[in-house]
Amino acid sequence: MATTLLIYSTHDGQTLKICQHLEASLQAKGELIDLKSLADCASLDWNKYSKVIIGASIRYGHLNKALYGFIKQYKAELEQRENGFFCVNLTARKPEKNTPETNMYMKKFLELSPWQPQMQAVFAGALLYSKYGFFDKFMIRLIMKMTGGETDTSKDIEYTDWAKVDVFSAQIAKS
Ligand SMILES: Cc1cc2nc3c(=O)[nH]c(=O)nc-3n(C[C@H](O)[C@H](O)[C@H](O)COP(=O)(O)O)c2cc1C
Repeated sequence: MATTLLIYSTHDGQTLKICQHLEASLQAKGELIDLKSLADCASLDWNKYSKVIIGASIRYGHLNKALYGFIKQYKAELEQRENGFFCVNLTARKPEKNTPETNMYMKKFLELSPWQPQMQAVFAGALLYSKYGFFDKFMIRLIMKMTGGETDTSKDIEYTDWAKVDVFSAQIAKS
């Protein structure tokens, strides 16, 4: 049976956590899954895979630059199988900014990427003040203040809507 490849690009672990949730729910539906970090995808045996899903997070307005290099290099391989992409960011904690059509980072990705994923999703990430260093904590708190978010740095908040991740999992399973 062919395998689904789940690739993640994460900084603080939330995109990995979402991929692990997808992995568990797809395995429960009978799929074989390979979960890999983007950094470990330099040489892949593409013949193994019938589907590929990539998840990546936003940091200071940008996705991991290496993601665009990967897409450029493997555009044909991505397009030859069922494929999807999801973007993780904190802007998506706002209901009016949490779809591929309304999330600025997803829209920017679709403008920049030569690969247009068949399946697309946007998930809210996590605000993990306890993990951030001094500078990042200061900057994120400032951004939260400007955008009406949580500014109490003693709190960590996970905004990810797991039911929405399950909807994406069902879409992947059907493809
Ligand atoms: C240093 C830093 C910069 C961030 N910049 C943005 C940003 O520009 N826009 C946004 O919506 N979210 C931003 N976020 C929120 C992250 O996208 C969110 O925390 C996400 O869960 C991170 O996923 P990861 O743990 O997989 O890297 C930022 C977070 C950090 C720590």
